[in-house]
Amino acid sequence: MPREPIDLDRWRAAGRIAAGARELGLRLTVPGARRRDVAEAIEEYVRGQGAQPAFPANLSRNVEAAHYTPSIDDEAVFAPGDLVKVDVGAHLDGAIADTADTVEVGGTHRHENLVRAAHDALRDGIAQVRPGVRVDEVSRAIAQAIRARGLRPIEDLTGHSIERYLLHAGKSIPNVPGASDATLIEGEVIAIEPFATNGVGHIANGPFGNIARFRADPGPSDPVLAGLFGRFRTLPFAMRWATTPEEQAALRRARRWLQTYPVFLERGHGLVAQAEHTVLVGPGRAEILSVVP
Ligand code: CO
Repeated sequence: MPREPIDLDRWRAAGRIAAGARELGLRLTVPGARRRDVAEAIEEYVRGQGAQPAFPANLSRNVEAAHYTPSIDDEAVFAPGDLVKVDVGAHLDGAIADTADTVEVGGTHRHENLVRAAHDALRDGIAQVRPGVRVDEVSRAIAQAIRARGLRPIEDLTGHSIERYLLHAGKSIPNVPGASDATLIEGEVIAIEPFATNGVGHIANGPFGNIARFRADPGPSDPVLAGLFGRFRTLPFAMRWATTPEEQAALRRARRWLQTYPVFLERGHGLVAQAEHTVLVGPGRAEILSVVP
């Protein structure tokens, strides 16, 4: 099925901005840095580049695999040896880039094998990308790279296709083979995001991660809510982005319109490393969009 042509330059620009935000987040994640300050610096960088965060800066730590963003009163600071996933998104008029990397706080080198496994898996997965290739081949390369280091891929977290204003557009890119019948199509934008763990390779839902998303347009009857929908559309947002008491109250009234995200915890209490790029399924190969120029 032919795909709608997309404005590639806009997707490339979003990719560069997200990559810059990722690198900033990695640099700021040092011992003693406050998790909320790092998240806000990442999001401010994205806005300063003329884009919007496509989702809150996720700073999941150690056994937290994904979907934690600081709340407005999170005072936690990073400690040496923390394994932190800096997972960031930027969008330009709905053209989204999603990218992540893992930093070991303080450069303690305790978890190097985990970080390298995620990097190897991302590299090997991307190397499989071309039009017409089965998603399963990408998944197989990811799983092999992680298992080669004596670790496990997290089976229930997947990469995903991306469309305008849709972060998870319907096609999954699993981190283990045998889970997809799909093939990649030229012109498609996908995020590939392997997670490596020394745990059991599955996640469990933890507490609320301070991230929500409108399931649908709540309509104009509640003007404050309509204003929030106008800002966030159906993309994930941080509860701390609702800054006024009126906005916070509107979100409390709006629970039925909202999907809320729990933190994903490694089920065996394993440590988790992640690496992610947004790539274009280009003619013949992948073009990595989330790169620093
Ligand atoms: Co993603």
